[in-house]
Amino acid sequence: MEETDRDDLVFEALADPTRRALLDALFQDDGRPVQALCDRHPEMTPFGVMKHLGVLEAANLVVTRREGRTKRHFLNPIPIPIRPGRCATRNVRVRGRGTVAAMTIDRAAADKLLTTTRSVRKRLDLTRPVPLELIDECIEVAMQAPTGTNAQNWSFVVVTDPAKKAAIADFYRRGGEVMAGSGYPPPLPEGDPREHVMPKVMESATYLGEVLDQVPVFVIPCVQGRMEKVPMIVAQASTYGSILPAAWSFMLAARARGLGTAWTTIHLFFHDEVSELLGIPPEWTQTALFPVAYYTGDDFKPAHRLPAGPMIHRDTWGQHP
Ligand SMILES: Cc1cc2nc3c(=O)[nH]c(=O)nc-3n(C[C@H](O)[C@H](O)[C@H](O)COP(=O)(O)O)c2cc1C
Repeated sequence: MEETDRDDLVFEALADPTRRALLDALFQDDGRPVQALCDRHPEMTPFGVMKHLGVLEAANLVVTRREGRTKRHFLNPIPIPIRPGRCATRNVRVRGRGTVAAMTIDRAAADKLLTTTRSVRKRLDLTRPVPLELIDECIEVAMQAPTGTNAQNWSFVVVTDPAKKAAIADFYRRGGEVMAGSGYPPPLPEGDPREHVMPKVMESATYLGEVLDQVPVFVIPCVQGRMEKVPMIVAQASTYGSILPAAWSFMLAARARGLGTAWTTIHLFFHDEVSELLGIPPEWTQTALFPVAYYTGDDFKPAHRLPAGPMIHRDTWGQHP
């Protein structure tokens, strides 16, 4: 669908006060069936409510999920590009395929996504359910990432079972204790600019450990192969390199949909125990654990990082720009 057609549908859908009220109702309580929405609007017939929901669905503002005979409605949190020119398309000639429309990337939006996708811990909304369709969608986006020899030897374990989450959270906390006792991370040299953020990071990581079982969804990106069995650097790099780009893409896709995540690894002190709990075959490696929830608040800022100059080496190590 052309961008302008989609914008028209969105504007048309939002122009009606009843449809805006239905969106408000879903904002307050996502996942309502039609009946609950009808109860809220007794002035309208069920047919009228369904008609409005159909318009919202066509505009991609609302998505639905069937549970048995019940159709549930959710706000679609995917940002909709309705600013003129925000995602301009242009026509490009492709050899043998004639003219196709190519979407130019909105660099400001891309850079914003890349520079503000933070580790979200304290701003995870522990009360709002996350539709699993949204997680599946993020995984599909993530699977556009590269893999060595196009192996696509990845898997994503999505955990929502409360008992399993509680058990994993317990391993996570125990992992935190192991780490604290190991003297890791080593103290930073005095005056290091990272020094002043470290207490905040540790405090926030401890908070995450405390509430981890309440986070609605865990996603564990896995790759086929075991690093300890592949001694060559090239093989290790290919194995981890075949999952970590997808893992980060998952976090970016989640952020673009209003979901917060944090890259965590502490539960991996108990890698094999968690694999057994989740039935992950022993030849697969878990690479991270992402707690996923809607985030609270509006936005995130770019982080303070060390200056890039000393990290860039031109032609020879040590030749910085
Ligand atoms: C490999 C890796 C492992 C990490 N492990 C954890 C972890 O176990 N727990 C946690 O709370 N954060 C963990 N983090 C998140 C870092 O603490 C975080 O990325 C860093 O403090 C920078 O903050 P930012 O992501 O908000 O920019 C990890 C990040 C990476 C890349």
